[in-house]
Amino acid sequence: MTVAEHASARDKVFIFDTTLRDGEQSPGASMNMQEKFRLAQQFVKMKVDIIEAGFPVTSKGDFSCVKNIADHVRGIQVAGLTRCHLRDIDTTWEALKGGENPRIHTVLATSDIHLQYKLRMSREQMLELAVASVRHAAKYTANVEFSAEDASRSDLDFVCAVFAAVIQAGARIVNFPDTTGYALPDEFGAKVAYLKTHIPNIDQAIISVHCHNDLGLAVANSLSAVKAGARQVECTMNGIGERAGNTALEEVVMAIRTRADQMDVRTDIVTEHIHPTSRMVSTITGIAVQPNKAIVGANAFAHESGIHQDGVLKHRSTYEIMNPSDIGLSKGSTLVLGKHSGRHALKDRIASLGYTLKDEELERVYLRFKEVADLKKDMFDEDLEAIVMDEVLRVPESYELMSLGAMSGSKTLPTSAVQLKVNGEVVRGAALGVGPIDATFRAIANLTGTQSTLLYFAVSSITGGTDAQGEVMVRIEDSGKVVLGQGADPDIVTAAAKAYLNGLNRLEYLKNKG
Ligand code: KIV
Ligand code: ZN
Repeated sequence: MTVAEHASARDKVFIFDTTLRDGEQSPGASMNMQEKFRLAQQFVKMKVDIIEAGFPVTSKGDFSCVKNIADHVRGIQVAGLTRCHLRDIDTTWEALKGGENPRIHTVLATSDIHLQYKLRMSREQMLELAVASVRHAAKYTANVEFSAEDASRSDLDFVCAVFAAVIQAGARIVNFPDTTGYALPDEFGAKVAYLKTHIPNIDQAIISVHCHNDLGLAVANSLSAVKAGARQVECTMNGIGERAGNTALEEVVMAIRTRADQMDVRTDIVTEHIHPTSRMVSTITGIAVQPNKAIVGANAFAHESGIHQDGVLKHRSTYEIMNPSDIGLSKGSTLVLGKHSGRHALKDRIASLGYTLKDEELERVYLRFKEVADLKKDMFDEDLEAIVMDEVLRVPESYELMSLGAMSGSKTLPTSAVQLKVNGEVVRGAALGVGPIDATFRAIANLTGTQSTLLYFAVSSITGGTDAQGEVMVRIEDSGKVVLGQGADPDIVTAAAKAYLNGLNRLEYLKNKG
């Protein structure tokens, strides 16, 4: 048997990505319709099997996002989450029905804690409702998933009874979530093994797991479950999600691939798209990836100590268990293009970073690239990505920066003059501040008539050198809603203005989401 034949003979683990649903539940990480659509397309490229596009009943905005993805994205199953209410299931199907093999994902808790305090239901009532809901969903599609929320803290025999009944009612995927991130790997794997031997009709369904990372064990628990027979893993890119997040897609996929000797399963993920997708998710959500994050952190393939560097130079395998190119990372910052590079070279480089742009988008990126290249001697992949993010991925909505001039110095009163487009209308104004960024934020707040509070502000440099582009992250709050904003520019005051406006646009989007 060839290596390829051997790999395809392994059992497949389905990758269910919930970045657009559970990932969006990360504090501050709201995504608009275009951003979600872009990510959905990226997941198709990466060959994710199923994406959970949202929770259609929660708002009109969520409904439209799910419908837009189901109607237009092909080559992937699109799932929508729904509570076990018959009318919610109808609405969810309305959003999903234009999709290719769309999935209705029903959820109801099985733990006594949830039944007693949240649902105020008996186990019998829960079981009846779960069966009725799955039966209702199965009238629309055979692709029905049932999740037993808080399964890991539920009575296991009760979960077995519920799973047997929902499979009988038409569920084809039964999901065993560790909703609170409470489980330990051996224990979690043993529970999945128990499901396999104690549910008489389990051969008619796939066992899925959905782990949260409260104890830092989401990936370990998911892998343990796979070893015990789970064949779907629910995960998010960069591990974002509710509280401490979810199982990180990149970690579980690369662990299965790198330790094929132990795992004896495969995924169909095109791992070369992992790095660009990770960057895209962090830029769109504004949630930075910690430098020491496994697989996609900036230091994941950096060797600091002399002994390690020497070893890697002699043979990569001394200290590297994965090849950086396997996740789409070229080693080190690559000098890519100069200001004389043409559109073709730019297009090729952008494509090699994993982005497919329309002609009109490419033109915008090209013009911006020329502007930045005029200011900056060397252009790296990271610079190019920042421009793509800025020009294409973050679509300006209500507020758009047109120009900015800020003054500061040791004996100068810091001042900023700003020109914006507010809902298509050009407005201009100036303000004083403690420093140029403070002055700029004050001018923007006046011009937009907004009253948000700045909770967090951070500047970092995208590459090295004093001519590097600055990347600014902000977290702002208005009327109890918290969002993140991000912007990049060689001028850090402009980068800060872009980040602030990005945050204000997100707040506006949340207000209008309905
Ligand atoms: O954490 C959880 O239990 C969930 C379910 C909806 C699967 O997100
Ligand atoms: Zn979850």
